[in-house]
Amino acid sequence: MTTHLPFSQACENNKSPILERLREIFNAPGTVLEIGTGTGQHAVHFAAAMPHLQWQPTDHPRAAHLAIARLEQAALPNILPMRELDVSTTPWPSQAFRWAFSANTAHIMSWTEVEQMFRGIGAGLPEDGAFCLYGPFKHEGKFTSESNQAFDQSLKSNAPHMGIRDIEDVSALATEVGLVLREDYAMPANNEMLVFTRG
Ligand SMILES: C[S@@+](CC[C@H](N)C(=O)[O-])C[C@H]1O[C@@H](n2cnc3c(N)ncnc32)[C@H](O)[C@@H]1O
Repeated sequence: MTTHLPFSQACENNKSPILERLREIFNAPGTVLEIGTGTGQHAVHFAAAMPHLQWQPTDHPRAAHLAIARLEQAALPNILPMRELDVSTTPWPSQAFRWAFSANTAHIMSWTEVEQMFRGIGAGLPEDGAFCLYGPFKHEGKFTSESNQAFDQSLKSNAPHMGIRDIEDVSALATEVGLVLREDYAMPANNEMLVFTRG
C-alpha cells in the first residue's frame, strides 16, 4: 500500500544547499534540536547524511503528527522520537542539545514566539554549539527580492502576526539572550542561513 506522506516541494529544493552548510557547522557529534520540523523531509535528509549527529525533531503540538510516518519509514538510528515543542512554552521541557536548527519558522511565528524561540535556545546552547536559522529575511527594512515582498504580503493577508523578519531585529534579539550572529550565508531562492553562537 502506498502511503502519501505530507510533502513540501520547497524542502525538496533547499535540502541539498542547506546540507552543504550544515556539514561545515554541525561538524562534531551532538544532539540537534530542530524546531518546527514540519513534514520531516529535512530531518530525514540531514540525519542520513550526518550520522555523527543525533537528530531531535520537534514541532508545535498542532503539527507534530505531520512528520511521524516519514520518520518511522526512514527508521534511522540517529533520529530520536518526535517531540512536541511549542516555543511559547516556558520553561522549555528539559532537552540537552549542542546544535539547533530551524527552517522557515521565523516568518510563520509571531514576533513574540520568535523571541521565545531565541530565549529557549539561548538558555540551552552550549559554548561549543551553534544555532542555524534558515529562511527569507529583510535587511534594514528592505526586501531582498520582489518575490520575498510578495510572499510577505501574502503571509500578512493570511495572518497579520506573520511576516518576513528584519535581520537587524533578529540579531538584536540574539544579543539579548547571549548569542551572536556569526554568519549570514546567501542561499538559493533569496533565502539566508543565519548562524548564531554564544557571544
Ligand atoms: C513553514 S513551516 C516550516 C516547516 C519546515 N521546517 C520546512 O522548512 O519545511 C513552519 C513550521 O513552524 C512551526 N511553528 C509555528 N509556530 C510554532 C511554535 N510556536 N512553536 C514551534 N513550532 C512552530 C509550524 O508548526 C511549522 O512546522
